[in-house]
Amino acid sequence: MSIKAQSSVTPADRYVAMRLRAPLPDDAPAVLALLVARDIADLGTPDHTLEDLLDDWREAEFSLTADALVVELDDTRIAGYGAVRRTGTLAVVAPELEGRGIGARVLQWAEQREREHGRARHRQWIPAKNLRAQAMLRAAGYLPQRSCWRMVRPLGHFAQATAIPVGFALRPLDVDHDAPGLHALDAASFAGNPGYEPESLAAFCDEHLDAHDLDPELSCVAQEGDTIAGFLLARRRQDEAVGYIDLLAVRPDRRRRGLGTSLLETAFARFAAAGLREGGLDVDSDNPRALRLYERAGMRPRFQLDTYERPSLAATSRRPGLPRPGGSNGATVESSRSRTAAARSPGDGLADPSTPGSRRCRRW
Ligand SMILES: CC(C)(COP(=O)(O)OP(=O)(O)OC[C@H]1O[C@@H](n2cnc3c(N)ncnc32)[C@H](O)[C@@H]1OP(=O)(O)O)[C@@H](O)C(=O)NCCC(=O)NCCS
Repeated sequence: MSIKAQSSVTPADRYVAMRLRAPLPDDAPAVLALLVARDIADLGTPDHTLEDLLDDWREAEFSLTADALVVELDDTRIAGYGAVRRTGTLAVVAPELEGRGIGARVLQWAEQREREHGRARHRQWIPAKNLRAQAMLRAAGYLPQRSCWRMVRPLGHFAQATAIPVGFALRPLDVDHDAPGLHALDAASFAGNPGYEPESLAAFCDEHLDAHDLDPELSCVAQEGDTIAGFLLARRRQDEAVGYIDLLAVRPDRRRRGLGTSLLETAFARFAAAGLREGGLDVDSDNPRALRLYERAGMRPRFQLDTYERPSLAATSRRPGLPRPGGSNGATVESSRSRTAAARSPGDGLADPSTPGSRRCRRW
């Protein structure tokens, strides 16, 4: 007779102990495996790579020891992961280990960390199809704020790009030289978008220009004399043969002349010439100008992500009790059965419609 058959233990009781600790650099492959399993369950396709994860962990304003958490079960499997960034929190639980209080524990940790950062609001991005995460956040008083779509178009039969409008010239991206100009134009362009949050030059470089897969050859800058009128930053997702448009911006006083369309189509033409099979980007649902442009260019939604938010409780000076990496010393071992969920009564703070958001919605 098998042990399973002898026991009255239900699957939910199998893992009673969870250990919360900061990730170590060596945990990256296991954390990636968890993220990819979650992507497949919620999006139907992997949406993280090891290099993406390492980029995130390297960002100057992100502390791996304080802004990230892994949840280990008693068999040392990584069952949960949380990361608190300026644009919001990513919290994931292994699909096969849901329903054991892991998500509630990560949420509780993330809220504490967000309070330490002085954030006025708690915010999480979750895939629209993750109904369990939605239910947990709603039960904890979170409300949906905005959505974003991954939009894609196949490039197999991509025709030539629309000509650049008269008066503008396209030139290659020069990452070091262009950084301050692109940062300034990025701020001026996105300032009018709902939920815009200013970003320092260092954070802009960290997130966009230093990305491991930024491809200057596929990116372009539109000049009007000495002035940068617009730009497009493109990433080459080599494994998937996909060109990903990270940022597209046109100066407010140079819009509605066809420059945005021309930059987008130029990128598609370059992607196709480089042998990439698909172009993709993320766009907020409350950005109708951009949505119209993308739809006209043949892009269609593939999946949807939603942000959920709730007001933060008063900031507290209490340290989160998050163990430092490096052994069992600081680790907290907790029982998932005795853990009080982070849930609060629904609606304990109605969402502020002017709530800030990310200007593009790669979850990570
Ligand atoms: C989205 C954005 C890049 C579009 O740039 P743009 O240069 O204005 O784009 P285009 O000129 O190609 O198209 C915009 C509109 O002008 C129209 N247009 C294009 N050429 C035109 C012309 N010669 N005369 C009149 N109208 C024209 C287009 O038909 C389109 O109309 P619509 O909004 O009614 O659909 C720009 O608005 C922007 O930078 N926004 C802020 C940043 C942002 O949101 N980026 C996208 C993030 S996902």
